[in-house]
Amino acid sequence: ERVIKAALLGLGTVGTGVYKVLKNQEEEMTAKLGCKVKISRILVRNLEKAARKLGDDSLLTNDWKEIVADPSIEIVIEVMGGIHPAKEYILDALKAGKHVVTANKDLIAVHGRELLEAAGETKADFMFEAAVAGGIPIIGPLKQSLAGNHMTEVMGIVNGTTNFILTRMTQDGMEFKDALALATELGYAEADPTADIDGLDAGRKVAILASVAFNSRVVFDDVYIEGITKISAKDIRYAKEMGCDIKLLGVARNTEEGVEAYVCPMLIPSTHPLATVNDSYNAVFVHGDAVEDAMFFGRGAGEMPTASAVVGDIFEIVRNILAGCCGRIGCTCYKQLPVKKMES
Ligand code: NAP
Ligand code: HSE
Repeated sequence: ERVIKAALLGLGTVGTGVYKVLKNQEEEMTAKLGCKVKISRILVRNLEKAARKLGDDSLLTNDWKEIVADPSIEIVIEVMGGIHPAKEYILDALKAGKHVVTANKDLIAVHGRELLEAAGETKADFMFEAAVAGGIPIIGPLKQSLAGNHMTEVMGIVNGTTNFILTRMTQDGMEFKDALALATELGYAEADPTADIDGLDAGRKVAILASVAFNSRVVFDDVYIEGITKISAKDIRYAKEMGCDIKLLGVARNTEEGVEAYVCPMLIPSTHPLATVNDSYNAVFVHGDAVEDAMFFGRGAGEMPTASAVVGDIFEIVRNILAGCCGRIGCTCYKQLPVKKMES
């Protein structure tokens, strides 16, 4: 039986989720793919902490060179975060002909073009579904199922922390600072929540969405950004009196003058589908000339939802790796699960 080996870079929130999903799904994945996917190395900084988490240190290393030089490793899963050394590691991996999956929106929003070009040169796959809206499938649909459209708009709620804060301010009348404290207490906001509340995290996701949806190269610096720190409970009450809600929206439009992209708090009618997206949920709304409107909704962050998107990318890469596999459901190389006969 063919075994495809992968290295996991990072064993934090997302890395742990990816490890768990691959373990939980081992049998089903093998049945679906016709081969096994095995994490053969895990790169971390703190070996002891990771060994305590796994109860085993046999897969752990802090030596990147050992991973990149290992020809048996075909896939690298980067879930460390940050720009450096993630960028250098991904470039090394792509140059070595390894396929790469990453969840790193900070990196892609700034250096996506360079990474995609490096992947193109060695014909390696470079996948990043988890970088936008966590568990919600949106990059794959834009690249594939919606590819026949001229897309003119992509917008949505792409930051869970700020959506949670605005929901508490709307539903419980909380002030911004109290809602932020609650988000921190519940583990939604980071210890330093600046990137969330100032709209930077949403800005990175909008740059990636606009690039994929409009086949353009929008980078973080092209996005106009305003966060939610100036929104008060009073603003939200006034919005309600007008039949509206305030949401932090990321918007990208494909106009005749070029692509425009921005993130800012906006008034939307309470009847709009995006107004019903509450707590830490995310949603992305797209408009294309053929499909018209479509909306994607789900968990935008967290261990298992984000791992779901990363593992989906691993699936696609594995299908592409398998000799002669076109990577499409229905192809004879795609192993289908048996159908259980229902008792009448
Ligand atoms: P995290 O919990 O902070 O975990 C980071 C992991 O990477 C840790 O295991 C850390 O090891 C390791 N690491 C960091 N720098 C390293 C280095 N230079 N060398 C080796 N190992 C290193 O981060 P996370 O929340 O899982 O996020 C990972 C990525 O996913 C980020 O790009 C993030 O933006 C993205 N993402 C996260 C979410 C989410 O819900 N958390 C959702 C979507 C996307 P040590 O512990 O040993 O330092
Ligand atoms: N801090 C991000 C959020 C995590 O709240 O949406 C997922 O990208």
